[in-house]
Amino acid sequence: MNKNKNSETNKNIYVTMPTLAPIDELNAILQGVWERGILTHNGPVVQEFEREVARFLGLKNLVAVSNGTIAIQMGIKALELTGEIITSPFTFVATLSAIIWEHCTPVFVDINPETLTIDPQKIEERITVRTSAILPVHVFGNPCQMEDIDAIAKRHDLKVLSDAAHAVGVTYNGKSLLEYGDIAATSFHATKMLNTAEGGGCVASDNALHEKLKRIRFFGFDNAKDVVEDGFNGKMTEVHAALGLANLNYLQTALDDRKKKYFLYKEILSECEQLKFQQINQDCNYSYFPLIFLNEKILLTVEKALNSKHIFPRRYFYPSVNTFTKVVPYVPMFHSEDIAKRILCLPLYLDLSESNVQLIAETVLNTIQNTFNHAIR
Ligand SMILES: Cc1ncc(COP(=O)(O)O)c(C=O)c1O
Repeated sequence: MNKNKNSETNKNIYVTMPTLAPIDELNAILQGVWERGILTHNGPVVQEFEREVARFLGLKNLVAVSNGTIAIQMGIKALELTGEIITSPFTFVATLSAIIWEHCTPVFVDINPETLTIDPQKIEERITVRTSAILPVHVFGNPCQMEDIDAIAKRHDLKVLSDAAHAVGVTYNGKSLLEYGDIAATSFHATKMLNTAEGGGCVASDNALHEKLKRIRFFGFDNAKDVVEDGFNGKMTEVHAALGLANLNYLQTALDDRKKKYFLYKEILSECEQLKFQQINQDCNYSYFPLIFLNEKILLTVEKALNSKHIFPRRYFYPSVNTFTKVVPYVPMFHSEDIAKRILCLPLYLDLSESNVQLIAETVLNTIQNTFNHAIR
């Protein structure tokens, strides 16, 4: 594994660092790219990346694309969604912008404050004649309740397009979470479990949709070069795929490592009764360590204490996206807005040492104890 130079020379600890294969392993793949002179247009490395990721995760198919936002947009195009799309307000803004860029209207349904995923019990009351799909978000890799969501979709003849940007390496009922819904859209961004620097992917529930996604990715062309779809440029390059292929060899290491550090954080932080954790499905990928405080004031005090030690956690996802009034009319979402104000993701990545996990967790505990004089069990 390449040690991130940053982690050795820079004393700042960021919320995450990319998992990177040794540069020699990347160079060996790039050598072939240079010799062939093929840089894009669904070249051999992109195809190999798709095959190998699908094999590793147990997927029927995968279309690699240029980023996770485009993957959601391609899902909307492929499913021919129109009108309203029901989604979660506790997500990254890209979920929202993908819907809006595809000329659909996002309709928010609040989250369950324990799991932080869309509350299926509240979905049906927001369905109208204009609803075309449900777009659940597996936030922090925690699976949404897909059986309930699928049952609602069936009852109302809706499509299910999941935002699975965080879901690489998550299994649900024994199979990859990316296998659920009509299409799952994932991200291979630098911060994600598997990265191609920028990148994403679509997993389709059947072969016809898979072929359609490939045409949409390539300007709508079919094999004969006729434009048969409303397509655009969603292609992943050979260089990005080469990075992904090299990094794929370290995905299992990254998954195991984050899980171990996740539980180390949890063990230390469980000492404080006022801290809360996302209620997670045990087969999630532990890709983030979100920590929920009693209120925003405590969060800000802890964040400041960490920053003073050159530790930079991130307020994922703050503010709740239903409050972005430049792009959507405001509709209150109590739990999402409340959680967004008091959740902080602590640093979690492969090169983060266990002693730093301890330092970070103890800084959180000590700050709460000293500042608020709160009893630690
Ligand atoms: C929940 C969620 N959806 C979509 C995206 C978009 O992915 P990308 O950055 O690859 O476009 C992200 C990115 O971080 C995300 O966190």
